Amino acid sequence: MDSKFPQKGRKWDDLQKQMTEMSQNDLDWQHGRHSAFVWHANDEVKEVSRKAYSMFISTNGLGKIVFPSILTMEQEVIAMVLSNLNGEGAAGHMTSGGTESIFLAVKAARDWAREKKPDITQPEIIAPSSAHPALNKSAHYLGMTVVRVPTRPDFRADVDAISNAINKNTILLYASAPTFSMGVIDPIADLGRVAQEKNLWLHVDACVGGILGPFVRKAGYPVPDFDFSLPGVTSISADLHKSGFTAKGASTITFRNQELQAYTRYDFEDWPSGLYSSLTFTGTNPGGAIAAAWAVMNFLGEEGYIELAKISMQIRKRLEKGLAQIKGIKVWGKPDLWAVAYGSDAYDILSVTYKMWERGWMVAPNSKPPGIHFMATPVHAPFVDEYLDALKESVADVTGGNTPDSPIEVRYA
Ligand SMILES: Cc1ncc(COP(=O)(O)O)c(C=O)c1O
Repeated sequence: MDSKFPQKGRKWDDLQKQMTEMSQNDLDWQHGRHSAFVWHANDEVKEVSRKAYSMFISTNGLGKIVFPSILTMEQEVIAMVLSNLNGEGAAGHMTSGGTESIFLAVKAARDWAREKKPDITQPEIIAPSSAHPALNKSAHYLGMTVVRVPTRPDFRADVDAISNAINKNTILLYASAPTFSMGVIDPIADLGRVAQEKNLWLHVDACVGGILGPFVRKAGYPVPDFDFSLPGVTSISADLHKSGFTAKGASTITFRNQELQAYTRYDFEDWPSGLYSSLTFTGTNPGGAIAAAWAVMNFLGEEGYIELAKISMQIRKRLEKGLAQIKGIKVWGKPDLWAVAYGSDAYDILSVTYKMWERGWMVAPNSKPPGIHFMATPVHAPFVDEYLDALKESVADVTGGNTPDSPIEVRYA
């Protein structure tokens, strides 16, 4: 690899050609060959996003005093998100992604507990085993401990087991809407009751479901409550760059009220340039991502998102119907939104995963239990049948066309 800093600059045409070549082996998401990483609504939405991003590409979200346009757009994005999360009286701000939003919720809970529960010196978080690793990453940086409690057989948080795990150091309970791996929404109403009773912070990781989930409900599908309508919910992370279909680098962290939001703030003064104060982990942050989010949300409106919600749910249903026809495959749990996971008691699903990869379908594996995970997005719509055909062939490769009658030993049980 030639990694020298070039002495002379090069022409854009030349660079574009080289970058196009470099991208030849990238994930073929345009043909639905992915199950995570990319959230593409359609080409029109992408174009709006691209144009809005480039209009504000030079702005800096850290300097909202000098970029009042960015401040206004961020406030309007948060207001739109909160109007869908029953967030009357709630407050929040934008971040660079789900991990930063979760980090800020954990930091806020820690600093809240330092003030309100000063006797706790070793703060602990109790989470279902399905929680996204961003939780442990945040706790690691913030000097906190995460206790992971096994989920129920339906892959949702086990509220009784979580209640039993609460101890004198517990400050925060954690739930997902939905979980990344299985696509199920935890029993957040019940967890909220426990949190209220014990005066604990409850964070809802709605990084996947927080933006499109409410529109799935508006499209007529039943969606369990997961937002501020539940009195025990303290904070919610909801990613715009996932089911909001906006440009990457955009998420939201919202709190039941402004007083709780204030615990995300970090102030520092003891340096030569006066007070540095921010609500985010990042310093400089891309005004372009905020502008793109504002533009996409206004471009799509409720109607546009309801349509995307319907398309995503129909894909999941079509996929589930096809899966039911493949001998030995079973869907894990009862997914609530557009994400689904399946596995097999009859054959080694990991080998099926490898066969799918060989066919160019970059399916995401689950390990506990072994399975394959799929996030339906509108780009998958034309390719559901191709996916199912590839899966049938991959299963046949693994079983030699004969599905064993008795279950084989499961690899990662
Ligand atoms: C449920 C959940 N939470 C948090 C995250 C982390 O989000 P990000 O990758 O934007 O930091 C993800 C990412 O897939 C997720 O699925």
